[in-house]
Amino acid sequence: MSPKPLPGFRDFYPDALAERAHIFDSWRRVVRRYAFQEYDGPPLEPLELYTQKSGDEIVGQLYNFTDKGDRAVALRPEMTPTFARMVAAKAQALRKPVRWFSIPQLFRYERTQKGRLREHYQLNVDLVGETDVLADAELLSVAIDIMRELGLTSQDVRARVSDRRLLNGLLAHHAIPEAAWPAVYAVLDKLERQPREVSADALAAAGLDGATQETVLGFGALDLAALQARYGTSASAGEAVARFAAYVAHLEALGVGAWVKVDLTIVRGLAYYTGIVFELFDNVGEFRAICGGGRYDNLLGALGGVDLPALGFGMGDVVLGELLRARGLMPAATPSVGVWIAQAPDTPDAPQALLQTATALRASGATVEYALRPQKLDKQLEAGRKAGAGAFVIVDPAHTDSPWRLRRTGHDDQSFTTLPSLVAAVTAARESDR
Ligand code: HAM
Repeated sequence: MSPKPLPGFRDFYPDALAERAHIFDSWRRVVRRYAFQEYDGPPLEPLELYTQKSGDEIVGQLYNFTDKGDRAVALRPEMTPTFARMVAAKAQALRKPVRWFSIPQLFRYERTQKGRLREHYQLNVDLVGETDVLADAELLSVAIDIMRELGLTSQDVRARVSDRRLLNGLLAHHAIPEAAWPAVYAVLDKLERQPREVSADALAAAGLDGATQETVLGFGALDLAALQARYGTSASAGEAVARFAAYVAHLEALGVGAWVKVDLTIVRGLAYYTGIVFELFDNVGEFRAICGGGRYDNLLGALGGVDLPALGFGMGDVVLGELLRARGLMPAATPSVGVWIAQAPDTPDAPQALLQTATALRASGATVEYALRPQKLDKQLEAGRKAGAGAFVIVDPAHTDSPWRLRRTGHDDQSFTTLPSLVAAVTAARESDR
């Protein structure tokens, strides 16, 4: 047996788990402020849930097999199809807009590399039942607020926003036939990462003439003002430009304008997006996408037969963790022990008094540890120091007037004649340290 986990899978030793918990806690705090409710679904789903709509990239990365009942199944590679299925199944009964979040573990058989593993946890925040761009703005504001909560600033992270309907409008405006749109999308997606000639060749192969190729290659440089000036009155793109401008204005009013950059090269790989899409990246360009999402107005119809607009995003724990560590924003794990109880030497009825003390302190909510076999007092205290204990209680039943002594760094020792008085003092100390 290899002592290692499978490639792309992680063991979470306590320090790593504390980092994960820090990310999860921040996620939950922020999304709850925006009134989203937590849900979950099954980690194993019918294979066809993904083959229908997720797009070739994810389908090529599925962990799928035939179960003992001859069903074709897959470990979930993303949460959106499960979410869409669950909402569609109860669409009538749910209060709209539906505002739900989840933190599933997801599985994709990817080539493992920095920021890409074969399992990751992904915060999913989704909203159903609203077509207005105010919903799109609200959603991006959640993602950006999470960055703030974790100590990142607009100097560290940029939200790159685009709109597939707007892009379609521009392609129509330039009389690019619909059959060529997928090829144009693929080129825009890779525009930053591949040489200009390669992009131009791909556009030529899709049938675009030289002038139209130049126009498309220039899309990446268009900001909102340029879009408004060039396409504001266009019959095919004008309405989408106005909607996009309203979206950006809402983001300003929500106080996240400084984080946002219009960038039409963000198209998102997944097949189901229909409108505004976005991705969050670190500003240095050191890491892969932190988060991605957008509007997918047709997926609930395709998976559950209900016509409801929807939008959402997924934010993984892997890239975010790398970024927080690189910027020194990952807090050190805190010791788990609050109070260490030691017993004085030569106390014949000792473990009983020590155990009763531990039980009373634990009942009051304190985190308590002690040596699990008889040891010299200095060894016990040393073990407590190593465990990071903030307070020590020395139990000495032979000392009948004051069997308990409380020792805390920076304070004088205190003695107690009764267990309740010790518990009250430890509780007060915990509260003042908080
Ligand atoms: P996605 O872009 O595939 O979107 O993933 C969202 C985020 O999850 C990525 O930006 C990245 O941080 C993280 N992620 C994805 N794959 C991996 C991996 N193999 N290893 C580590 N991190 C990864 C979706 O999954 C959409 N379903 C999101 C969504 C929700 N759209 C609407 N609602």
